[in-house]
Amino acid sequence: MKKALITGITGQDGSYLAELLLSKGYQVHGMVRRSSEEKFERIGHLREQITLHQGDLLDQFSLAGLIETVQPDEIYNLAAQSFVPTSWSQPVLTGEFTGLGVTKMLEAVRHTNPKIKFYQASSSEMFGRVLETPQSENTPFYPRSPYGVAKAYGHFITVNYRESFGLFAVSGILFNHESPRRGLEFVTRKVAHGAAMIKRGKWKKLGLGNMDAKRDWGFAGDYVEAMWMMLQQDKPDDYVIATHETHTVREFVETAFSHVGLDWREHVVTDPAFVRPAEVDILMGDYAKANRVLGWSPKVKFKNLVEMMVDADLARIDRAQPEFRY
Ligand code: NAP
Ligand code: GDD
Repeated sequence: MKKALITGITGQDGSYLAELLLSKGYQVHGMVRRSSEEKFERIGHLREQITLHQGDLLDQFSLAGLIETVQPDEIYNLAAQSFVPTSWSQPVLTGEFTGLGVTKMLEAVRHTNPKIKFYQASSSEMFGRVLETPQSENTPFYPRSPYGVAKAYGHFITVNYRESFGLFAVSGILFNHESPRRGLEFVTRKVAHGAAMIKRGKWKKLGLGNMDAKRDWGFAGDYVEAMWMMLQQDKPDDYVIATHETHTVREFVETAFSHVGLDWREHVVTDPAFVRPAEVDILMGDYAKANRVLGWSPKVKFKNLVEMMVDADLARIDRAQPEFRY
């Protein structure tokens, strides 16, 4: 039985990846931060089948100790400060979690067991002010936020440890991926949840920032499969994971509101508080390499994704269930 260790197991991707690995017969271990209150809603349904260990990306010794204890075959490093706007208000913390945290993980792997296969959660945010469209593994980076800068560091240190020490370390350059488990502050979930609240008469308005921004949005469940596939190859390499489609935030809003029979123009207002100091105007990924080498392609299309998210929020409101219990 293979053993996997997931950092960030309480996050959106961690929960889908844990489900996937369990379905493949893995023994799944997760690293969680100590908190005064346990908030593990996304993995609540898996608690009996997984083992959780306390650790923190800021604490080198906790990482090495954890790897020593678990002795995993594969590590998926998903933990990060992942919200772009917070990276302007907490740039140092973001650099320490999202950037240096990767080096701490790689050092722990190198000194504990260099045979462990390592996945780094890199991001299309590294392309930032894009130098070409669509973006591929060969497109240079031009990050536009402290988060993007930290992810670029995490990407290159992963490549560097592969080349310097021969680690099986891969960087998955994933474009935006969403689901009903997405955090409420990200635009897709904010819109899906807002449309559902307005439909049920609980809210009247939804304030948004830049609706002209374009993103390549896929489904998180499809994307965690690509992470696993990357670690099953004979050779470590980096891959773009995307849908090769791009849509504006406005299109997402239109699709969500029209799904519940509402005219978005009557409910959505612009709120400058959500406009960023620097924007990533357009992302669209070319996943040809992942398709060719891994045999991966996205399954869920844009409209299905939006409708899935809105329906999940409607159901949640109707059952008056707390966040993420579904
Ligand atoms: P998420 O829902 O925000 O989850 C982030 C996870 O990281 C949570 O489990 C969080 O734990 C954990 N974490 C944060 N700081 C930590 C620390 N110092 N020590 C230990 N754990 C810490 O993010 P996601 O959407 O699942 O994304 C997973 C990864 O992929 C992230 O690295 C993200 O930057 C990257 N990524 C995401 C996307 C996307 O579109 N979703 C695209 C490209 C790359 P708590 O529950 O304790 O907060
Ligand atoms: N969050 C948010 N809230 N974004 C808004 C809003 C709003 O009210 N209004 C407009 N937007 C726009 C943002 O300006 C951005 O252009 C776009 O919606 C998407 O914002 P987010 O959903 O916050 O995601 P992101 O693209 O900044 O970052 C996500 O994707 C990255 C991959 O490209 C995160 O998941 C990152 O962790 C990930 O690496």
